[in-house]
This record gives sequence, C-alpha cells and structure tokens, in this order.
Amino acid sequence: MKYVSYQAKTQLFQLHTKHTQRAFYCDPAKRLIQLYYGARGMSEEALLLCESRQAYSSFSPVPELEGGLENSPDNLAQLFPGFDCGDYRLSGAIIRDASGAAATDFRYRSHNIYPGCVVPEGLPGANRGKNTETLEITLSDQTRPVECVLYFTVFPESDTITEFTVIRNCGTEAVQIERITSAVLDLPGDEWDQLSLSGTYAEEFQLRRQALHHGLQIQRSLRGSTGHQANPATALLTRDATETQGAVYGAALLYSGNFSVEIECSQYHATRLALGIADTDFRWLLNPGESLSAPETAFTFSGNGIGGMSRNFHNFFRHSVMPEAWEKRPRPLLCNSWEAMRFDFDRDRLLKLADAAAAQGVELLVLDDGWFGERNEADSSLGDWFVNTKKVGSLATLSDELAQRGLGFGLWFEPEMISRKSRLFEEHPEWVLGVPGHDLCIGRNQLVLDMTRSEVVDYLFGCMSRLIQEARLTYIKWDMNRNLTEAYSRALPPIRQSEVRHRYLLGVYALHTRLLKSFPELLIEGCSGGGGRFDGGMLHYCAQLWCSDNTDAEARLAIQFGESTFYPPCAAGSHVASNYPGKTHSFAMRRAVAAFGTFGYEMKLDELTPEEQKAAMAYNLDYRHTHGKLVQTGDFYRLTAGDGSGNPVAWLQVSPDRKLARLTAVMRKNFAGSIKLRLQGLSETLTYRVGDKNISGAKLLRNPFAITFDGAVGGEAKIVDFTAEG
Ligand code: DGJ
Repeated sequence: MKYVSYQAKTQLFQLHTKHTQRAFYCDPAKRLIQLYYGARGMSEEALLLCESRQAYSSFSPVPELEGGLENSPDNLAQLFPGFDCGDYRLSGAIIRDASGAAATDFRYRSHNIYPGCVVPEGLPGANRGKNTETLEITLSDQTRPVECVLYFTVFPESDTITEFTVIRNCGTEAVQIERITSAVLDLPGDEWDQLSLSGTYAEEFQLRRQALHHGLQIQRSLRGSTGHQANPATALLTRDATETQGAVYGAALLYSGNFSVEIECSQYHATRLALGIADTDFRWLLNPGESLSAPETAFTFSGNGIGGMSRNFHNFFRHSVMPEAWEKRPRPLLCNSWEAMRFDFDRDRLLKLADAAAAQGVELLVLDDGWFGERNEADSSLGDWFVNTKKVGSLATLSDELAQRGLGFGLWFEPEMISRKSRLFEEHPEWVLGVPGHDLCIGRNQLVLDMTRSEVVDYLFGCMSRLIQEARLTYIKWDMNRNLTEAYSRALPPIRQSEVRHRYLLGVYALHTRLLKSFPELLIEGCSGGGGRFDGGMLHYCAQLWCSDNTDAEARLAIQFGESTFYPPCAAGSHVASNYPGKTHSFAMRRAVAAFGTFGYEMKLDELTPEEQKAAMAYNLDYRHTHGKLVQTGDFYRLTAGDGSGNPVAWLQVSPDRKLARLTAVMRKNFAGSIKLRLQGLSETLTYRVGDKNISGAKLLRNPFAITFDGAVGGEAKIVDFTAEG
C-alpha cells in the first residue's frame, strides 16, 4: 500500500497512516493549501471541496497579481505561511536578506516521494518504523534565492506524521533567519480545547485543559532547555472530547531548547498551530550554500479521545524515536544512591547498599552525585570528571565488587556544567558561557559550559568514554541542574551570538550521539533536576528520563499521569523512595506508584523491615519477569481523569497480545468502600481469570468493575491482574 500519494491533475498530496489522512494541494498561485487532517475515508472529490475561499476586507490584502480578496493569504490555510506578504498570523519563517527586507513568501517548486524516513541534520528525530514513507517538498521564495524544504514522514503503525523544515541559502549573499518553525497546522474553526503540560521544579507535567480564545496563546521556554515550566507538546481537541471519545490532534516537538508552541485563533475563526525554535533572541546567519534545519514535530490524530492520542504517541516514541538498543531489552531494575545517601557515602556504605540491593534482586547500582573531584556538597568540582579515590577507591575495583554481587554499575554526570571551584575552571575559564564583564548568574553554585565549542564536547567525550570503559558502566545518569543565562560564547563572532542557544543544543546532541556510537548498549537516563528536560528530543538518546525529584507517591500520581499524556510510561524514571516527613504511605502503595514506569529504588534498602524486604523481593522478581515487560511493551490506559488529581487514580497496562493486563488503583486518602471503574483495552473475545473467577472480556468491558479499598491510613493501592489462557 502507498501511504504518500500525489495526483498531478489536481495537484493533491495525501498522507495516510493506518487510521488517519492528511491532505493539501498546490493552488494556481503555487501556494500549498491544507485541506484536511483527520480520520481516514475522505475521497479525493470530498478533499478538494474542503477549501472555500471567502472575500473579506481590504484589511486582508492580496498580492496584486493574484486576483480578488478571496485569495488573501490572511485567510488561507497555508502549509508554510510567509511573513509580511498578506498573512498577519503566525508565519513559518522570517528571513531577512542583505537588502534588509524581511518579506518572506515561499511557493511550491517540486517534490519527491520515497520510502523511509529522514531526520534533521544534527538533531534528534524519528529514524525508524515499519512502512515509513517520506514526502519532500521544495518551496522557493518568490523573489530571493532562498529555498525551504518541507519533510513529511508517515509512520503508519503509530498513526503519526512527522514534519520539519530546512532553509537553504542558494544565493551569493548571506541572509539572516529570524524565525524558523518545524511545522504549521491550520485547523478549521476555533472552538477547540487545548491540553498542555506546565509546572515547576518538583511539580512537573501538570495537565491543563483550556478553551482556546481569540488571538495568540503560547507555551514556550527561553531557558536554553525545555524547562519544568512548559513542555513542547500539546493537543487540540473538540470541546466534548474525553479520555475515550472525540477528536484529538496531538503535536510534540522533538527539541530540548528554547521552543515555542503557538496557537492563534484568527478574526475569521480559524486556528493555526505553529511549533519551532522560540523567536526571542534567535537569529541565524546563513551564508551562501548553507542550510539550517528546524527540529522535527510529530503529529498524531485520534478519533478515540485523549487516550487514543497518548497511545499513538507512546508507540511512536517507543518504536521510532527512542534508542533502538532499548526498544525490546528489559530495563534494569536499579537502585540509585541519591536519596539514600546524598553526598555522604564511602565505599563501605555503598557496598552495604549494594548487598541489600543484590539480595532483593536489584540489577544495577547507580552511584549518583558526589563521586568525583572534591565534591562533598553541591558547590564544587563539576567538570573534574575523575574519581575521588578517598571516597570510593578505584571505580574499576568498585565495578568488580558490584559485578561479584550480580550488579551492573551506573554513574551520575552533569556534563554541561562547570563549578568555579574546579580544576577545569582554573584551566579553561574561557569555556564558560557568559557575557564578558557581566555579573554571571549562578544556579546551584554552577556555571554553564559553552557547548557550542567543539573542544568542550571533545573534552567531555574523552572524560566520559574513559570512565565508561574503566568502570565498565552500563548506565549513566545525565543531569542538568540549571538553565542558561548570559548565553554568549567567546568562540563565536558578534553576529552569531543569537545562535548560541541552538548551537548549545547541537553540542549536547553531538555528545549524546558520539557516546551512543561508541557504546551502543549504554543506557542513558536523562535528568534535569527531575523532569526539567523531558521532551521528544531527549528521548531519542535517553531510553529513560527521570520524571521528577518529587518522589512522594501522592504527588507522583499527577506528575506521571501528565507525563503519560504525550510520552510513554516506560520512559518515565520512577523510584520507590522513603516517605516524606508527615506522609505515611505504605511500602506497597509507594511501590505500586513507582511501578507505573521505569522501576527502581532510591532509599536505604538496607533499612527495610523484614516484611518490606519480603514484599520487595517478591515484587522485584515479578517486575523482572512480568511487570517490567508490560510497562515496556504493553499499552497504557488511564482509567480515571487525565490529570491524575482525583481519587482513586487508576491505570491499566495491557500486553500487546491482550492476554495479560494489570490494573493499579491508588487511593490517596483513607477510604473504606467500593469504587467502580470502566475498563478498557481488554480483548472482547478472550476470557480472563480475575482472582478466582473466569470472566469474559466482553463482560468486563461492558460493566463497571468494582474495587474495594480497606481504608488504610495514608492511602492505599490495589492491584488486579487479568490473565487469559490460550
Ligand atoms: C538532581 C537530580 O534530579 C537528582 O536525582 C540528583 O541526581 C541530584 N541532582 C544530584 O545532584
């Protein structure tokens, strides 16, 4: 089957996935006009009727040679709208040429359709998938020798279509790119709701739903990183859409730096969504012959509500974006030293923790912050990536000792940072990002390394790869504990200073790429003070991302549910930790909440009570054989409200063959009694064993399912398995 097609007679382009269809055509003025995006099934005739042009007023002008007011770009659903040429809404790009003019107006020139996918140069992207096909459309500016190439790749299996743009200077004089988006999507009407994720440190992924209003609404980051505050993913949905019903469009930008997700509802009641690099202090000098790629955006459409959109994205990220080496391999069950010991550890204490971890069936010990340089507090040594032998002896020996206990070894790094109190700073003060003479902002006592410099990336690669080899690391945690300020590089000329934040990211991505090329099996867990850089870009390198520094089981419910709106739970680092002061969540409840994602412990395992030890051992075994696989390869269903704020919060993890499903229901407060849940995701035709009963899938799906809580103080978790024979 062909998933991408072009009809020469009508100049109609169509992109199909298993259940969705997107169409646009090239009009007589060579503008690409969006016609339809939604469920499959629209005929060619019906698609061509989707556009009806209407004349408004002289305040929506039209180029002189293009006829009447009905052709005003201000009202056209252009695939890549220009700037300053009659469309006052969000533009695809703004390019200023040597004359100083910024009027940008791209028109269709040629196209190409081929199998496979294309990834933007130097950036993360979806690089694999079954039956993928790509449509490449070249546009040229009306008057200047500048091209824009739009890449669309269809991922039929996950009902996802990716898009990105490349701008190329084909002239003899330099131009400046002042705005570049990956994709612009116009939707008819403006009566949409928007889903977005916002938050703060230790309170990431708070799901918000709001009705769109006239004018502009923006989610963005100017932090040089994605940030805890806003996430580069959004959904537009019909006002009546729910978790299981209604039309939902999802969009996720695969980028980890300054981004903008902009939505504009126009005076004519149309909606435009644009995703790309944030414009603020962004300018890129493009010399003759050079090109610049925007990051990739993934779109999906679900006619089955928010849950359908989430599962499309989960499949897309797992099978097309995240590291292939970890697509099928079970993630190691880990124990991280941070919350158990912070900076206060030595070799003996580590081995004591390792003994307890090994005895309970843990597979990997992660030594977090504090093992290097002279770091005993968060005030020094970042950049000095050599072991503090006084604290832990040799890493190679420690690795051997862990191996003798059956444990793999993982280490924490914060590669992009430098402490003033460090050897690296003494040797290379010029490697710091900062405006010379300006009072630099400090965050967690640290400064930011200039990742735009290749020698910095080389230095970090040298240190990290040496340690990975020496200590036989199978895992690294890559942290980032502050955002960029004074983003100025001494290595770049004045005219390129507004490129620094994007170039910084190119350096970060380059380091990831080099590490994974040298150590393809290495598991990288990304982190930025929790989920401060949790995005589709990072997922390309990191099979897991630490979701939040907030490990309180109650707070985690909303954080993890929010994460699952766009990103797969198997990417979410979630650990069992000790209770926060004043909290009395049982070990079983904390464990059930952590089993939502990539499971591990972050507590003094050597201080568990005998009952807790027994429970931990039993569950760890189950995780390694059963539950871990469900999390990683199964489908995820939210059974209660999407923001995870209610009582109870319940979800279901279902194996790909639907023969095994695990329901987890968590009650935040002490409540004795029954609640009823509407199940999803089971097979209608299978019979499931539930407790000591056999119940048909059809019956389970059609009737509310009751769960009884005992009223435990401090909340409670109930787990129900559904297993089918055959
Ligand atoms: C912030 C991370 O989110 C924590 O998990 C821990 O690694 C600390 N940094 C260490 O400094």
